[in-house]
Amino acid sequence: MLLETPRPANRAVAEAEDHLLMRRALVVAERGRRTAAPNPWVGCVLVRDGQVVAEGFHRRAGEPHAEARALAAAGERARGSTAYVTLEPCAHFGRTPPCVDGLIAAAVRRVVIGVLDPDPRVAGRGVARLRAAGIEVSQDVLASEVVDSLAPYLHQRRTGRAFCVLKSAMSLDGRTAAADGTSKWITSSAARADVHGLRAESQAVVVGSGTALADQPSLTVRNVDNLPDRQPLRVLLDGRGSVPTGGPLFDRRLAPTLVMTSSRVLRSRLREWEAAGAEVVEAPLSPDGRLDLEFVLCELGRRGVLQALVEGGATLAGALVRAGLVNRLVVYVGPKTLGEDGRPLLAGPSPRSLNDAGLWRLNAVTQLESDVRLDYTAETAA
Ligand SMILES: NC(=O)c1ccc[n+]([C@@H]2O[C@H](COP(=O)([O-])OP(=O)(O)OC[C@H]3O[C@@H](n4cnc5c(N)ncnc54)[C@H](OP(=O)(O)O)[C@@H]3O)[C@@H](O)[C@H]2O)c1
Repeated sequence: MLLETPRPANRAVAEAEDHLLMRRALVVAERGRRTAAPNPWVGCVLVRDGQVVAEGFHRRAGEPHAEARALAAAGERARGSTAYVTLEPCAHFGRTPPCVDGLIAAAVRRVVIGVLDPDPRVAGRGVARLRAAGIEVSQDVLASEVVDSLAPYLHQRRTGRAFCVLKSAMSLDGRTAAADGTSKWITSSAARADVHGLRAESQAVVVGSGTALADQPSLTVRNVDNLPDRQPLRVLLDGRGSVPTGGPLFDRRLAPTLVMTSSRVLRSRLREWEAAGAEVVEAPLSPDGRLDLEFVLCELGRRGVLQALVEGGATLAGALVRAGLVNRLVVYVGPKTLGEDGRPLLAGPSPRSLNDAGLWRLNAVTQLESDVRLDYTAETAA
């Protein structure tokens, strides 16, 4: 890539150049999205004399960070360069040495950062160390795009909870299962393949007992490029012990399973789950007598889950939305109509009036064969 050199005197041109290169760093970062967790997927681009001299991304925990990979690839050409990094470089010893030390040692001239790292071990210290070493630092460059890209990581580090993505397939008239409970298949094979991409980006896939009983899902990632190293953790929310161990959800050769349950469940059921190789965690109950969903997401966050994909059904989806715990909603709309006896998208009490309705921000619309994928983030729950 050839850019103007030296740095453009015109401020607007310089800003546009920074945005272009940060966007490139975002593209590079994507290569680690399915493998980096519990670390963030970060991208780094080194530019000298108007040319990209090296790029790097963080592939997985324990391996070099994006900056270290780019610096190693650049060698001597890193001297006097500008580093574009999507996330603030780390300033602490973790499984690898601090990235700021590498940037300082390589005599990088300027560091351009997308977003500061909320991890308390970094949180501004990276920027401070770079500035103290005489390196020019620009921060919040292309910040809203970088925040979108790193949303699950930023959310987990800020709140302790896993970022909750609710996925649902519904008919044209908003039904997620027919009157008899069948839901295979409301959408096309293209939409179902797309869901495997969502699973591959998630470290946990969550269902309620109703879906486990009705659909006997395996919840594994299949047929995707760049498979994550491990299958996501399968999480069953079963507060009354109604799901037996016969189905694929308890086949530990496929993936690990975590059952979150309550103290009400019979010991014999707990022993059955454990004998099948599942881990069992007791969650507190919320006032409605159901598992405390905030606890569930905190427990997953504590285990290093950055993104939890909730795959229904309507009871769990409704409870999560009412609790204001859904960060992103992905709805696949198929070309069938199921009528009013079908299951809704969200079960449970409704807002009384339109003034109280939940509000969602539409981010993207994609056509997948005969289906439409709608991608939203939460504004307010209801
Ligand atoms: N179209 C789609 O995308 C899609 C996706 C999934 C499922 N489905 C369909 O949906 C139907 C199943 O729906 P469903 O609503 O019965 O199943 P669900 O939402 O998966 O499971 C509901 C159950 O989860 C348990 N649960 C535990 N903690 C909960 C909490 N805090 N809040 C709410 N529930 C909690 C409850 O049982 P306990 O009280 O026993 O704990 C509850 O009855 C099936 O017909 C299935 O085929 C469709």
